[in-house]
Amino acid sequence: FGKVSKVVCVGAGYVGGPTCAMIAHKCPHITVTVVDMNTAKIAEWNSDKLPIYEPGLDEIVFAARDRNLFFSSDIPKAIAEADLIFISVNTPTKMYGRGKGMAPDLKYVESVSRTIAQYAGGPKIVVEKSTVPVKAAESIGCILREAQKNNQNLKFQVLSNPEFLAEGTAMKDLANPDRVLIGGETSPEGLQAVAELVRIYENWVPRDRIITTNTWSSELSKLVANAFLAQRISSINSISAVCEATGADISEVAHAVGYDTRIGNKFLKASVGFGGSCFQKDVLSLVYLCESLNLPQVAQYWQGVINVNNWQRRRFSDKIIAELFNTVTDKKIAIFGFAFKKNTGDTRESSAIYVIKHLMEEHAKLSIYDPKVQKSQMLNDLASVTSNEDVERLITYETDPYSAARGAHAIVVLTEWDEFVELNYKQIHNDMKHPAAIFDGRLILDQKSLREIGFRTFAIGTAPDQAYNLFGTAGY
Ligand code: NAD
Ligand code: UDX
Repeated sequence: FGKVSKVVCVGAGYVGGPTCAMIAHKCPHITVTVVDMNTAKIAEWNSDKLPIYEPGLDEIVFAARDRNLFFSSDIPKAIAEADLIFISVNTPTKMYGRGKGMAPDLKYVESVSRTIAQYAGGPKIVVEKSTVPVKAAESIGCILREAQKNNQNLKFQVLSNPEFLAEGTAMKDLANPDRVLIGGETSPEGLQAVAELVRIYENWVPRDRIITTNTWSSELSKLVANAFLAQRISSINSISAVCEATGADISEVAHAVGYDTRIGNKFLKASVGFGGSCFQKDVLSLVYLCESLNLPQVAQYWQGVINVNNWQRRRFSDKIIAELFNTVTDKKIAIFGFAFKKNTGDTRESSAIYVIKHLMEEHAKLSIYDPKVQKSQMLNDLASVTSNEDVERLITYETDPYSAARGAHAIVVLTEWDEFVELNYKQIHNDMKHPAAIFDGRLILDQKSLREIGFRTFAIGTAPDQAYNLFGTAGY
């Protein structure tokens, strides 16, 4: 393999777009082309309004675009010209057939591998950036080797280079990653391919943060990292229920526990449950892998992380219904936040979808505000878990939080957007039905000042004496 001067990324999504923008930004000597079969998305990447919202992304794309960063729908041409190809396509949970609801669907990864085999024409380093099960690189390699048999000019090395960025902080994470992980074969050609990819990252990542391993360790580490992160959230969320039942406060417990440097204080925020396109999918993928390896105890252990997450969502919805006098039928309820976390418009597997679904089943009327989620996205997400008729009947899309809350019995905070902290809750309270309640699923609001205004409040994992005083007879 020669020195890499042309990089192509297949898949212009949340990973492919930001990752390639960062490579183009940090490596002016490399030409980076991002391709996708979705031509509308490519047109958006080439427009003034990029298809995804990510703080800091616009600046970098607008500066590098048409200089050394290109977005194109001509996949064969891009592949033919590339020295190194990232596969950055989606690997969603399979919704049919074998492994339904558990295994990741690898059809897009396979399809890209076949396209590469068809159009490569010469030596290529193929880099698996999508999150895949262990041994996926073997299938990619097998398809590529088959093409090699018919064309002596072809030569391939498959590397694993999983992505660890989190949405909402993607540009920061890419600019300053905790680590970059590269897995490859230990043969001389494998080591050479690894060295070429290391060379790209070395343009901005200190060498000691670039970890190289064998291919399978790299693939597995990605699943394990996400499983550990998701497990921390399920752990703290499980304890939030203990807090509500005892008088302990989850924020105090998280603080005290996280102060132990062995445990660490990050990722211990109790919530209405984790969302996003990765955690559930990747933990399920690990569970499926363990089942396939005949390791049922390991599979059950990780399945518990998912079970607690589903239970937490249900528990929170049930709490809302119970505290609104056991009926939300026809009641207007304002929902603050629909994205799976702040600073993104992404709604994939957002806990908001499930909490709202539960409230819709009780015939509540929901007026939803989120600063970044598009109306069509929100309505489609909800229709996919209920029905178009129910969405039509029960859902209102709002463009400002004050009108969402006007005339409502309750506000439910489902995404931790900073702007929700700054709202004029006195004014909001005046405009609501009384008694007015706030359910904080993200622990971002100051319960005390809300209570002083006159709100009844409930926050995940808060001491029951407070909750009881406000919701039981003692407080009112
Ligand atoms: P995405 O859905 O946003 O983007 C994937 C893109 O690939 C889509 O635009 C789709 O049109 C395109 N695509 C699919 N098949 C194609 C084909 N055959 N040819 C050309 N284009 C094709 O997905 P994403 O969120 O960017 O995730 C991509 C991968 O990265 C997944 O495996 C995911 O698990 C992993 N990952 C995601 C994140 C994240 O935060 N979103 C973080 C780390 C890793
Ligand atoms: C995650 C991983 O963090 C990232 O490394 C990987 O590459 C992709 O998956 P992402 O899903 O984008 O990133 O966001 P993340 O910040 O991890 O949040 C996931 C979910 O967990 C969100 O719904 C978030 O609100 C929730 N969360 C996170 C909590 O409920 N509590 C926490 O303490 C942290």
